[in-house]
Amino acid sequence: MSRSAHPAGPRHADVLPEGHYAGPPADLNTLDPQIWSRTVRRNADGVVTVGGLDVRALAEEFGTPAYFLDEDDFRARCRAWKDAFGSDADVFYAGKAFLSRAIVRWLNEEGLHLDVCSGGELATALDAGMPAERIALHGNNKSVEEITRAVEAGIGRIVLDSFQEIVRVAHIAEKLGKRQRVQIRVTVGVEAHTHEFIATAHEDQKFGIALAEGQAAEAVRRALKLDGLELIGIHSHIGSQIFDMAGFEVSARRVVQLLTEVRDEHGIELPEIDLGGGLGIAYTSADDPREPHEIAKALGEIVTKECEAAGLGVPRLSVEPGRAIVGPTAFTLYEVGTVKELEGLRTYVSVDGGMSDNIRTALYDAEYSVALVSRTSDAEPMLSRVVGKHCESGDIVVRDAFLPSDVAPGDLLAVPATGAYCRSMASNYNHALRPPVVAVRDGAARVIVRRETEEDLLRLDVG
Ligand code: LLP
Repeated sequence: MSRSAHPAGPRHADVLPEGHYAGPPADLNTLDPQIWSRTVRRNADGVVTVGGLDVRALAEEFGTPAYFLDEDDFRARCRAWKDAFGSDADVFYAGKAFLSRAIVRWLNEEGLHLDVCSGGELATALDAGMPAERIALHGNNKSVEEITRAVEAGIGRIVLDSFQEIVRVAHIAEKLGKRQRVQIRVTVGVEAHTHEFIATAHEDQKFGIALAEGQAAEAVRRALKLDGLELIGIHSHIGSQIFDMAGFEVSARRVVQLLTEVRDEHGIELPEIDLGGGLGIAYTSADDPREPHEIAKALGEIVTKECEAAGLGVPRLSVEPGRAIVGPTAFTLYEVGTVKELEGLRTYVSVDGGMSDNIRTALYDAEYSVALVSRTSDAEPMLSRVVGKHCESGDIVVRDAFLPSDVAPGDLLAVPATGAYCRSMASNYNHALRPPVVAVRDGAARVIVRRETEEDLLRLDVG
């Protein structure tokens, strides 16, 4: 719809930065299914529902801000990934995107594996009953305690990230009388098209061992000599929020090239490769993510083709999606507190959360969408900036968004696609209390991570 469809024209639209939204969406009341979780609808009264539950009732019961996670959607995405990759591959959910005991149980029930990257994530996984052999441990600086606990638990694999770690893990395993299954994480030298802080396969960064100049081949040589290690394969993760499959294809090709070199030098075929996570999701209607079956097809074909060309058996493949599973399944519900119109500029709509529950806008310039969800409105669209309540001007939740111009204190706004890296990166800045995560399914809602309380904050303060 062109702007002229709104006779008065959208308020403040002339100050939109280049490259951002072209203009207001056709209808501010319509929810784009691409960016909202599967059971989100607007009911006949104009109120948004999730899993059949009205957001006004949810706000009443659980308070705001709060994350509402659509359990059916989460499980459906787990199944879509598992089915797409089939029985010759393993799907490891990346727990850093969001982890809780309930999530671990769902993953377990859906037959997924789990990637953890800290002692805390490992503890959560084990506590909630994930079989140790289905867990992988990551990290560029795992502590001796973390490695020991993982080896003792009988973890399925540890992904080695440095020369020191090869020796460290081998020693710990030997001391415990075990042989630990490991992969070596390599950096393949791909520049992923994403934010610098979340790109991980170019050479000048902290993760992995470079393929360049034979570093990775040397790591393989050393790992193969150590009795405490069973080297099962090579790992590569090129970054996050990536839409273009080309980077994954280059990565797959280079990893297979290393397998070929290992076969030629040592006479062994490493049985597994892991191509990491990083698949992008839709945060706004402009994003066009790939479906799991397209990703599985593209990766499967390239690995098979490269292996055939090299005369290698096709290794077992694994992938580690985090965001692509949990990201689209949740939205954050906020209540509007104040509305401040800056004449000729934009309108600042302040909500009761902010950078403590979603740091991604401030940290990566991430784009989000937002909708008025407690009612519909026919008011003209107004260029808005949704901001939080923190003492910092960079405390922005949604930088540029159109909201109806009658948005007012007491209205509920929802920001979709906040399932990944929002609660897991939440902070207590300004002594904010981190919001709860409420799982919604078939007309029932239950808290899976409760809201923090002032007692929680004060309990840590022992002075
Ligand atoms: N595997 C490894 C080894 C990783 O380092 C990561 C993410 C993943 C898998 C999962 O990536 P995903 O599929 O979720 O993109 N905090 C940033 C993202 C950092 C991701 C770190 N590693 C964000 O909010 O965008």
